[in-house]
Amino acid sequence: MNLAIEATGLVKVFGKNRAVDGLDLRVPAGSVYGVLGPNGAGKTTAVKMLATLLRPDGGRATVFGHDVLKQPNEVRARVSLTGQYASVDEDLTGLENLVLLGRLLGHRKRPARIRADQLLDAFGLTDAGNRQVKTYSGGMRRRLDIAASILNTPDLLFLDEPTTGLDPRSRNQVWEIVRAVVAQGTTVLLTTQYLDEADRLASRIAVIDHGKVIAEGTPGQLKSSVGAGTVHVRLRDAGRREEAERVLGRVLAAPVQRDADAFGLTVRVGTGGSESGAAEQASRTLSELAAAGIVVDDFSLGQPSLDEVFMALTDTVTKEPVA
Ligand SMILES: Nc1ncnc2c1ncn2[C@@H]1O[C@H](COP(=O)(O)OP(=O)(O)OP(=O)(O)O)[C@@H](O)[C@H]1O
Ligand SMILES: [Mg+2]
Repeated sequence: MNLAIEATGLVKVFGKNRAVDGLDLRVPAGSVYGVLGPNGAGKTTAVKMLATLLRPDGGRATVFGHDVLKQPNEVRARVSLTGQYASVDEDLTGLENLVLLGRLLGHRKRPARIRADQLLDAFGLTDAGNRQVKTYSGGMRRRLDIAASILNTPDLLFLDEPTTGLDPRSRNQVWEIVRAVVAQGTTVLLTTQYLDEADRLASRIAVIDHGKVIAEGTPGQLKSSVGAGTVHVRLRDAGRREEAERVLGRVLAAPVQRDADAFGLTVRVGTGGSESGAAEQASRTLSELAAAGIVVDDFSLGQPSLDEVFMALTDTVTKEPVA
């Protein structure tokens, strides 16, 4: 497999704080890789080491096969970083920022201007292009910041919490941008605190906490590792609820909870490690209810959210620290 990033036992210590504490990461080229973790988990510190902005205290990391310590120039030539805090100049306009950065990257005046116009257009900033950045909203600034980081198409783009603090519409715009960047062949390492964001964008996710990877896999694998989905049933006739409760308990072999109203029942089911398990159990439940002549008004099968996965994982770590 062609790896964009390979990190083994990466360590960064600040005083007594092991901010990154033996981080292992293998990021396949060509996709979005999510790094998920709470405040202070070590995401930004890890990204800075991989982008050669911070020197590791231990371990080893390569970017497209180039060692971050021994070949920093080769690494820098291939990566771009959009930091957690925007780095554009407040007093310049959006257009001026992009042209200036393009010039700093060595583009001539006219190509720099053309590329700037292209990016402003692609990111919906054409109208705002001639306004000073200090008049931009948070979402506009974030988009400009990402635009600045892809003036040259990098092989690897680090996006450090690109949507933190954005409203749903701006988040969607940033997601579209990320998809477009990946479609052009760039590998994206995306850090986020939002599980739904990692779920939507990333092909694989590493969950990190206290500077270590505590789980890794596809979003589906992470969810099924918690092994639960939720079946919810709403009955036409509240009088049949006790009967329905017995059917559900028998078919799903799990405790049935009565909803606050008289009509609903909820069951958390184990998926036995496979994603199809819960769906199969749900369809058996429906057919057995129908066979008993119990009319169902509403039925839903919810997958566990990554939020639940995360809670379960970090909970485990608190109770029994991973060696
Ligand atoms: N320059 C620094 N000096 C001292 N401590 C630092 C420094 N940078 C980070 N830390 C500490 O290292 C730990 C990891 O911080 P880091 O910024 O990498 O976390 P993060 O996962 O990016 O968090 P957030 O989601 O809040 O951005 C924290 O405890 C932080 O206080
Ligand atoms: Mg951070």
